[in-house]
Amino acid sequence: MNFHDAPSADGVWHHCHLLPDADPDHAIRDGAMVVEHGRIAWLGALTDLPDSYRHLDRHNAGGAWITAGLVDCHTHLVYGGQRADEFAMRLAGAGYEAIARAGGGIVSTVRATREADEAMLFAQAAVRLEALLAEGVTAIEIKSGYGLSLEAERKQLRVARQLGEAYGVTVHTTFLGAHALPPEYAGRADDYIDLVCHTMLPALAEEKLVDAVDAFCEGIGFSPDQTARVFEAAARHGLPVKLHAEQLSNLGGAALAARHKALSADHLEHLDEAGVMAMAEAGTVAVLLPGAYYFLRDTHLPPLALLRRHGVPIAISTDHNPGTSPTTSLLLMMNMACTLFRMTVPEVLAGVTTHAARALGAADRHGRLAVGRVADFALWRVASPAELAYWFGRNPCAGVVRQGKVFR
Ligand code: NIG
Ligand code: FE
Repeated sequence: MNFHDAPSADGVWHHCHLLPDADPDHAIRDGAMVVEHGRIAWLGALTDLPDSYRHLDRHNAGGAWITAGLVDCHTHLVYGGQRADEFAMRLAGAGYEAIARAGGGIVSTVRATREADEAMLFAQAAVRLEALLAEGVTAIEIKSGYGLSLEAERKQLRVARQLGEAYGVTVHTTFLGAHALPPEYAGRADDYIDLVCHTMLPALAEEKLVDAVDAFCEGIGFSPDQTARVFEAAARHGLPVKLHAEQLSNLGGAALAARHKALSADHLEHLDEAGVMAMAEAGTVAVLLPGAYYFLRDTHLPPLALLRRHGVPIAISTDHNPGTSPTTSLLLMMNMACTLFRMTVPEVLAGVTTHAARALGAADRHGRLAVGRVADFALWRVASPAELAYWFGRNPCAGVVRQGKVFR
């Protein structure tokens, strides 16, 4: 359904249970929620519904649990082509890093992305976005990083913005120019970082296409020094940063990100305690990505016990991308975070709501049902919210409200 034609969510939502913020102790059984002018005006127990709201239209939720809309806080949703052949090569024994060093991997998606026009990128990404929206996602981060030239990065970010407008979903764009070295800069990584910092970022920020800045700090990506230069450029434009850190090795990227007050450091399989402590101190969210861990058949677990001990907020995301995590299910990632990382149900519920919103710098707008916020929520045909993490390959979402409009 076209976003602009969708019916209004205004009125009283009843015959429902509410989970306002992922904390099971805050659950409201037999609840009601009032939406006025597309915003949450009241929520609580149905028996406490103020008389002044009783005359409003009613939306019968059919006994559903209602949560805040889910937040997918780390995706590379817009790109050309796919990499099924590379998957086959890896199954035949080739390593992810070896493929990247031989000119495959990210750079092969760069070729396909440069060749595609905006309409084609939109059409391909829309299919993936629709799958995420059907699972109750109402806010999503979308990174560039498969263009690696000003024109091609701009194309990706413009399409990300267009998706947000077409679907009425909140899109946070992240400029990931420092994702990989484009072939035309082979052997000249520092020159490419100059281009990222002094040409690409200034132009794209000026065009209001960038909400945050990210980099891939890794042996097959960029060094900590190069990453620091990207972060300094972001600061000059007043933009927050995030980092792909400690995915394949430990370069101290998370601590570097924390020094730059990063919103999040993501992946983190090889994170050590010094990095965890730096993140805790800076309030940087740990975004864990079980899809990439699974698809690369990684065996090096992220340090859950250390993250918990130091009180680092943990988010979970799809990392949707064609190379390491071609999934369109955030619910499946919740299940994998439980089974593979041994996270608890309340942890993964917070991981796709409150903590994911914080990883976007949007904790005041997303991830929680609260009076005054835009009506972004999901209805679940489940007996308890634990079922969101329990089923895999099954979607119990019974309806979604995005930006005050109803989608079923
Ligand atoms: O988040 N690690 C770097 N970036 C992506 C993978 C990109 C690709 O292989 O296309 C990730 O896993
Ligand atoms: Fe990623």
